[in-house]
Amino acid sequence: MKIRESGMPDQEVWEGFFTPEVVLRALGLTSTSGDVVDFGCGYGAFALAAARMISGRVFALDVEPDMAERTLNRSRAEGLTNVVVRVRDFVEHGTGLPDGAVGYAMLFNILHFERPEVLLREAFRVLAPGGRLGIIHWRPDPATPRGPPMEIRPRPEQCAGWAEAAGFQLFHPGVVDIPPYHYGLLLERPRVSGHAGR
Ligand SMILES: C[S@@+](CC[C@H](N)C(=O)[O-])C[C@H]1O[C@@H](n2cnc3c(N)ncnc32)[C@H](O)[C@@H]1O
Repeated sequence: MKIRESGMPDQEVWEGFFTPEVVLRALGLTSTSGDVVDFGCGYGAFALAAARMISGRVFALDVEPDMAERTLNRSRAEGLTNVVVRVRDFVEHGTGLPDGAVGYAMLFNILHFERPEVLLREAFRVLAPGGRLGIIHWRPDPATPRGPPMEIRPRPEQCAGWAEAAGFQLFHPGVVDIPPYHYGLLLERPRVSGHAGR
């Protein structure tokens, strides 16, 4: 099931909204180890940037074959050998990754889903204890040039609450500003957990 309001403008327009390496650094990717999963890779901007920054593999998942193909073609054109692209509906079928398989998960511009807990529980499951979750989303500001309608656009405190309900803890620096249009959150799957998500 494709997540509501998850269509993309042209690649050039979309990629003018952020600098992926800066976002990933701000959200702690370079302090983690192991593989990475990108939930809804779209054109692959963040998956490819992550693949350039780490030595592990990046699992880039998208329900749209066209998005998966573009990401694969871009990774090949760059000579990246650590990007694993899969056409996958992770709402219906999960990521297909084993428990504790990755050290970092990205939920980027996707938590406006009506059931965010489904994505957060799956991210929790596939992260190893001590693994990190990066979330970014459009600021709850109607002046942003794109983003889901304001009535379904999640605020940072909502994302934090949903993630904590799934078992995550905010990790330094917590909530970060990602100028010009986004905010981000960094969370951790605790090493010792009282519960494995709710
Ligand atoms: C708004 S785009 C964000 C893309 C990327 N995360 C970024 O920030 O550049 C959301 C992506 O999630 C994909 N998507 C939506 N529902 C999905 C599902 N159920 N399973 C896998 N991918 C999905 C869409 O096809 C789209 O490429």
